[in-house]
Amino acid sequence: MPIKKIAVLVSGRGSNLQAIMDNIENGRINGKIEVVISSSRDAYALERGEKHGIEGIYIGKDRFPNIDKRNNRLIEVLGEKGIDLIVLAGYMNILNEKIVKLYRNRIINIHPSLIPSFCGKGFYGERVHKAVLDYGVKLTGATVHFVDEGTDTGPIILQKAVEVDFGDTVQTLSKKVLKVEHELLPLAVQMFCQDRLEVQGRKVIIVDGD
Ligand code: GRF
Repeated sequence: MPIKKIAVLVSGRGSNLQAIMDNIENGRINGKIEVVISSSRDAYALERGEKHGIEGIYIGKDRFPNIDKRNNRLIEVLGEKGIDLIVLAGYMNILNEKIVKLYRNRIINIHPSLIPSFCGKGFYGERVHKAVLDYGVKLTGATVHFVDEGTDTGPIILQKAVEVDFGDTVQTLSKKVLKVEHELLPLAVQMFCQDRLEVQGRKVIIVDGD
């Protein structure tokens, strides 16, 4: 099976990018990250990529204030690199319909809650964990899903729950959820690269590997 070419889109710290790079290096993922694209010029994720010899490209609002122009630039770069899979790993920008259509079922996102709870517009970063704590739910978790035209609405690939303990803070909860993100995201990427993810309507079927 040919190695899948991956683009990882980031905006900040890049711990999920790190988890993917580690799983490529230990041979679990049959893929290669061709490029790390950041919406923020000083994202630590760009440095992490460079340390592993991966090219980093900044495509941000100051250079491309218009969302469609920004997405067109993205499409250009992804096309030039022959990308098979786009991974949104803490990417804080919206992809437009054009790119979603072009890469249908080939864009994966990680969200730090159990979708469809605590997701959608306005639910990102620490806000998700704050909303979880304010609501008082006993379980939260992480979700990896394909990206469609909505916000956090695409077919779900993997989910795992995390218990919310009395006394948890945004910091302790985000740390627990992040640990699960680092398990789920590389696993989903691994299965994509093995051609094991089949989308049937809203459902993602995980087929057996060889
Ligand atoms: C993660 O919590 C992810 O779920 C969210 O943004 C955070 C990114 O963390 N979308 P990192 O940049 O991968 O460390």
